[in-house]
Amino acid sequence: MIIQDTIRLWREEKKAIILAHYYTKPEVQDIADKVGDSLALARYARDTTARVILFAGVHFMAETAKILNPEKKVLVPDLQAGCSLADSCPVDAFARFIKQHPRHKVISYINCSAEVKALSDIIVTSGNALQIVQSLPQEQPIIFAPDRNLGAYINHVTGRQMLLWDGACHVHDQLTAEQVFALKQEYPKAMVIAHPECQGSVLALANFIGSTAAMLNFVKNNPHEEYIVATETGILHEFQKQNPTKQFHVVNNAKSCQCNDCEYMKLNTLEKILNALKNEQPEILLTPDLIRQAAIPLNRMLKN
Ligand code: 13P
Ligand code: SF4
Repeated sequence: MIIQDTIRLWREEKKAIILAHYYTKPEVQDIADKVGDSLALARYARDTTARVILFAGVHFMAETAKILNPEKKVLVPDLQAGCSLADSCPVDAFARFIKQHPRHKVISYINCSAEVKALSDIIVTSGNALQIVQSLPQEQPIIFAPDRNLGAYINHVTGRQMLLWDGACHVHDQLTAEQVFALKQEYPKAMVIAHPECQGSVLALANFIGSTAAMLNFVKNNPHEEYIVATETGILHEFQKQNPTKQFHVVNNAKSCQCNDCEYMKLNTLEKILNALKNEQPEILLTPDLIRQAAIPLNRMLKN
């Protein structure tokens, strides 16, 4: 029996749902019940009636699933699947920063630890950050964490001056305007699409900026045949599935390397998914207090 069939049997046996992010390996996306961006996956996790949630993504996403549906058992294929952006905001330093700015509302991007979420007033994702920030009165001072690039982009669009935590994603932050220019010269008819975790100089060259799901939607509904893509490579799988005749050129800092693979996302493999389902391990465990505190800003986001 092939491993995919064995996983399906165990999924049924354990009454589990498999959720996967668009940055995971193609074979992981293909076995999942639901594939999505972080906003869609948070909603699926909140709404599922399955007994077990197997989360193929990164640690903060699985934590989010546990916070939104604490009665469920949440499993991850590999506990080492972290996130450089979440790691760039340690909770103690962030708590001190908040204390220094007591009038500010704290808006945190979902790519942060459960402890940082618990210190925040509202959580956002790349799919709703702009809309949620715009819903607050213009005069309201805001701390935005942890992604300085997404924060700067929102400041640019809204004319606000949110205080930005100095964090970044190592995958998106390394992409440069020069790399985009070089690809534009090679493929002059291509449209540039970018994730807002990229630097401002890259975003300035983009025809469209949005979350992974928003980029997929843009390409699906756009007549252009060619795209220069500034984000993680895993998204190409769904791009090609949905748009078999269109061409995609990934911005990369060297043709020979897989530099915009997120190594954390790629830790999710079929073998580890099978083991996690069989053993019901590794499991995400959070204290009831942390779940209660972190659920408040997450549910504020989901009500929007
Ligand atoms: P999305 O919110 O677009 O899914 O992005 C999550 C992420 O980790 C981007 O690096
Ligand atoms: Fe985190 Fe960046 Fe990987 Fe997304 S791509 S999970 S932000 S390290």
